[in-house]
Parts: sequence; C-alpha cells; structure tokens
Amino acid sequence: MIPSPKSIGLYVHLPWCIHKCPYCDFNSHEASFDKVKELERDYFKNLIKEFSFYKELISDRQISSIFFGGGTPSLIAPQLYEELISEIHTYFNLSNSEITMEANPGTIDINNFKDYAKVGINRISLGIQSFNDKHLKKLERIHSSDEAKHAIDIVQKYFSNLNLDLMFGLPQQNLEELQCDLQTACDFEPNHLSFYHLTIEPQTAFYKTPPEIPSDDDAFEMYQEINQQLQRYHYVHYETSAFAKQGYQSQHNLNYWLFGDYLGLGAGAHSKITHYGEIFRMNNTKNPKTYIDSVHQNKFFSNKTNILKNDLPFEFMMNTLRLTNGFQKNLFEERTGIELNNIRNQINDSISKELLHEDENIIKPTKKGVFFLNEILHNFL
Ligand SMILES: C[S@@+](CC[C@H](N)C(=O)[O-])C[C@H]1O[C@@H](n2cnc3c(N)ncnc32)[C@H](O)[C@@H]1O
Ligand code: SF4
Repeated sequence: MIPSPKSIGLYVHLPWCIHKCPYCDFNSHEASFDKVKELERDYFKNLIKEFSFYKELISDRQISSIFFGGGTPSLIAPQLYEELISEIHTYFNLSNSEITMEANPGTIDINNFKDYAKVGINRISLGIQSFNDKHLKKLERIHSSDEAKHAIDIVQKYFSNLNLDLMFGLPQQNLEELQCDLQTACDFEPNHLSFYHLTIEPQTAFYKTPPEIPSDDDAFEMYQEINQQLQRYHYVHYETSAFAKQGYQSQHNLNYWLFGDYLGLGAGAHSKITHYGEIFRMNNTKNPKTYIDSVHQNKFFSNKTNILKNDLPFEFMMNTLRLTNGFQKNLFEERTGIELNNIRNQINDSISKELLHEDENIIKPTKKGVFFLNEILHNFL
C-alpha cells in the first residue's frame, strides 16, 4: 500500500502569450491583450469549478505550493487571482504556502505587481532568457534588455522572493556573451536562478528552420562557467538547471523532483495523485477553448491512467536523480510502495560505474552521473 504524501502542489496553467516564441513547446497560444481580457473571466470561473471538483479528493492534504505557470500569467488581472486564491484558502490553509507566478518582462504593469503581492502571490519567476538585445531579437521576445532590467526593478519593489529564467547555448552565442548575461543576472541578486540549455524541440519554429547553435562542447563550457560563477556568488546548485541562495529552493519544483503529488488545473495541465495505494495521472485537454467547453459540461479531464508498478522505479529515478543531493533512501519505498532491495542490482551497477553514490541515508548522482543521467536511467527501464 502506497501512503498518500501529506502535502500536494497545485499547478494552474494560463495558456496565452502575446507572441509565440520560436523555441517554445509549452502549451501556449497566441492572443492579443484585448482577447485575453475577453476570455480571462470565463477561464477563471472554470478554474474555480475544476478546483471544486477535486477538493474532496485532496481534502486531507496540505497545499504546500501553488504555481501559476504558462503561457503568460502576468497578462491576467490580479483580481482574478484573488478570487481563485481565496476560494482555495476557504478549504486549505495557505499561510505557509509558496505561491509563485511566472511573468514575462514585456507585460509588466507596476500597479498589477503591487496587487499581485496583495492577493497572496509571494514569489515571481521572470522569463528574462538573455540581457543581450541581439539574442532577444533572435528569440523573438516581446521585450528588450532594458525592459527586462526595468521589469526586475519593479518586481523587486514588491517581491523579495524572485527567480530569473535564463537560457544558454543561444543561436550564435559565445562564451563572453554568456558571461555578460551571467554577471548582469548576479548583479540583481535574485535568490533563485534557472539556467536552461536551449533545446530545439519538435513542433517549434526553430525545429522547422534550425538556427545555428553552439556545439555541445561549447555549450558544456558555458554550463561549467555558469556553475563556477554561481558558486562564487553563493548559489547552491541543487538541480540540473536550478540554483538558489540557501533556503530559497523552489518548493513547488522540489515537490516534482521528489516525486510528490500535484494537482494541475487549466488547459493542458496534468496531475499525479496517490489515492488508496494507487498512483494515477490525469491530463486536461490542451486547447483553451475546448478546455472551457469541457468544464462547462462537467468533463474535468481528457485522460486518466494508472502508473504501472513496473514503471515506478524509472519514474522515481527520472525525477529524484535530477537533484544534486539525490534522495533519502526511505523515500523510494514511501513513494512507490516497492522495497529498495528490489532494485539493488540496478543501483549497484551504477555505483560500480561511478555514476551513483550511496551512503547510509542517501543515494545521489556522482559528478560524472549528473552528466550521464540517461545511462543511469536506462538501467531502470
Ligand atoms: C513555461 S516558460 C514560461 C516563462 C514565460 N512565459 C516567459 O517566457 O517569459 C518557462 C521557461 O522555460 C524555458 N524554456 C522554454 N523553452 C525552452 C527551450 N526550448 N529550451 C530551454 N529552455 C526553455 C525558458 O527559460 C522559460 O522562461
Ligand atoms: S512567452 Fe514563454 S510560454 Fe509564451 S511562447 Fe514565449 S517562452 Fe513560451
């Protein structure tokens, strides 16, 4: 019997963007600002209805974090967040919960940010990507470098808890340009930084017309530079792409990486829930209009599947081994209901190849293992 974890994360998807970036394969749909204003109220009504449908299922849990992701959540009026958060707060105590909103620097309105803070959002994740105008243009971002810096200033007025998203390995980016981005990001002293290696995803404009990107060796050199510089600035590298000042790790993402449960609301959102010893996943339909229509008709997910027992070790490792500190050994059985001894051979094989390290309490990837994660995971397939 797999016990349900005490806490659960809540993900809320806001699916609209002013412009679709050519590298992005997230569930985001282009819509003008006026169109978003026309749709947002109805969409939030449906989010509240969807939440009401699930609240019994998770009534014995603590909602430890809420993440408003996108898309571009900063296009949405603060009052709508207020209504949704107070509805959730009626049933769940949110006083210690981390509540994050993603924001795009091209959509920053100072009064909105004052109000986002008032309605209970306590952490902002700003999609900066780069401080270099040449790269921002190639990425077709809707903001300049100066606007990105101005956005950080505004957000820091109202939020002390701030993440900046940046990407590296950008089209024609060199090491010096990456160093400038890194330095500018550090100068703002955010307590969290995410540095993602640009990947060319299928179904994106960059996939159809690939830009020239740095070689793997050059990108690896950039990654090492990021690690070294952020260490000098006292950031803890706690996950492949995530760096935080002590005590400021993203609670919401940590829950994913520790194979915790989460409930997803909104178009394309998905959930992982442990219930009566079973773990199941649910997916919502991706198109915002279809999502609204389905919830109107009381259809709350398009797909529900159980995670098979045989797949659990792989799923668990795929998440937890992204963390530089790996996982506490007792967590494996707690989350999967399977004794660690059942996967002893696979673990020992990776230990003998110096890809995994084990001590009395934890199992974690070695420095080499971090870069050969796929090889470790292959053992658990
Ligand atoms: C869901 S996006 C939302 C952020 C927000 N909409 C924005 O772009 O300003 C989260 C982050 O994923 C990263 N990301 C998106 N597509 C990526 C790709 N193809 N490769 C690497 N990182 C990517 C970007 O840094 C982005 O800020
Ligand atoms: S703004 Fe963010 S979510 Fe929207 S298309 Fe660009 S990267 Fe994707």
